Amino acid sequence: MKLPDGPKTPHWLQKVQYITDPLGYLDSAYQRYGDICTLPMTRGKDKELMVLISNPQGIQEIFSTDPEKLDSGGDAPKLPFLGEQSLIALSGERHKRHRKLLTPPFHGERMQAYGQLIRDITEQVTSQWTIDKPFSMRSSTQRISFQVILKAVFGLEDGPRYQEIDRLLTMKLEGRKSIFRALLLFFPMLQKDWGPLSPWGRLMQNERNIDKLIYAEIAERRDNFDPSRTDILSLMITARDEQGQPMTDVELRDELITLLVAGHETTATSLAWAFYWIHHQPEVREKVLQELDVLGDNYDPMEIFKLPYLDAVCKETLRIYPIAIVPFQRRVKSPLQIMGYQFEAGIFLVPCIYLTHHRQDLYPEPKQFKPERFLERQFSPSEYLPFGGGNRRCLGMAFAQFEMKLVLATILSQWELGLADSKPVKPVRRGFLMAPSDGVRMVVKGKRPQNQRVLETSSSSA
Ligand code: HEM
Repeated sequence: MKLPDGPKTPHWLQKVQYITDPLGYLDSAYQRYGDICTLPMTRGKDKELMVLISNPQGIQEIFSTDPEKLDSGGDAPKLPFLGEQSLIALSGERHKRHRKLLTPPFHGERMQAYGQLIRDITEQVTSQWTIDKPFSMRSSTQRISFQVILKAVFGLEDGPRYQEIDRLLTMKLEGRKSIFRALLLFFPMLQKDWGPLSPWGRLMQNERNIDKLIYAEIAERRDNFDPSRTDILSLMITARDEQGQPMTDVELRDELITLLVAGHETTATSLAWAFYWIHHQPEVREKVLQELDVLGDNYDPMEIFKLPYLDAVCKETLRIYPIAIVPFQRRVKSPLQIMGYQFEAGIFLVPCIYLTHHRQDLYPEPKQFKPERFLERQFSPSEYLPFGGGNRRCLGMAFAQFEMKLVLATILSQWELGLADSKPVKPVRRGFLMAPSDGVRMVVKGKRPQNQRVLETSSSSA
């Protein structure tokens, strides 16, 4: 089997580069080897090979290959914290079953049920802002997306259990920021429980406390079942597979944690980037406001979903610095051909979201933030893929897009904000994701006057 060419520097050095400067590492691999190249990777103790593809035809072939031949999950090393019944860890029939059970609650039309909740949470978090005091936008968006998941997905209501889950999960998720935690994730040999004083031991104890509370919530919800509830846990409890079987408590627990981990930081980071670009390029903010002001105050949240310029801004935000630079790594299970290469079982084939989004032929001036490109042409799912694709495409895609737009609309129409710093913000690694280097420091200049909307709308239409 002749594999595509790739860098020859020592394996460990490439790993260090990929952890510390992922975009620089990928850019130089692309410049040297083009849109298909072979890179080394480590999974647990094994050294394996990954073929990275940023060619839309090749990506289309990957996304449409039968998961029996090429898929992630299943034989992947255990993902810490998510659990063995997590959608991300499953493959084959079990993955298909969970996707079927979980897809209806995430259908685009269902999002309507969460519109008011998202707006209320956004207003509650932003009411804590202080005029003229710089703050980290990512901390605010993280607080919003976290509460949205606890309330819309877990269906938790304010009270002692909510507060305790909030506290423990915040501790769990905050730790993910550190470079030390990134090392713990990348080097499984560091994952040893030497009691509550060791970093891994502390994490494990926290996990056990969280689980106790989640199982208590599931039990209570089953005992006092209320069919009128619209939160995702309630919908998951009522879902039945083709054999008429419901999800077990362990499956529910693992999927709740999966949705929290997959959905909270991704959305929060995307929002922080969107605020950065909107304020870094004032003409973008003006155009967004023009669109929002036409709707007035009492808009239907679904109308926000359809605004073309806001949609283009969100798309461009996820294009220029995709939160996940690669989706899940797909392992070849039986021999197959892609882009003229023959691949045997065991090789990983990975579409590269970041490099595809930076192809000059698809996105001229790729390093420039230009929402207009999404108004001028449509991109296929293998040309634009911030949510991955195929059988693994992000389950929360509609939810994330809806939340992004609604949070942006709520904040931008009510607040005058500015960037606290004029220097450009750079993307840096945070665990598996890419995030703005300083969390996007902003300042609140004041409340946006109610009548400004009317004035702006009438002057722009004059
Ligand atoms: C802007 C925000 C988000 C981005 C950029 C994002 C991106 C992604 C990506 C790239 C994948 C991997 C897809 C693949 O391998 O092909 C993924 C998977 C997934 N995402 Fe998201 N995501 C976001 C928000 C959410 C939200 C809000 C939820 C749920 C509440 C969610 C739940 C999931 C789940 C469950 C999977 C695993 C799907 C599977 O294995 O079948 N994501 N996401």
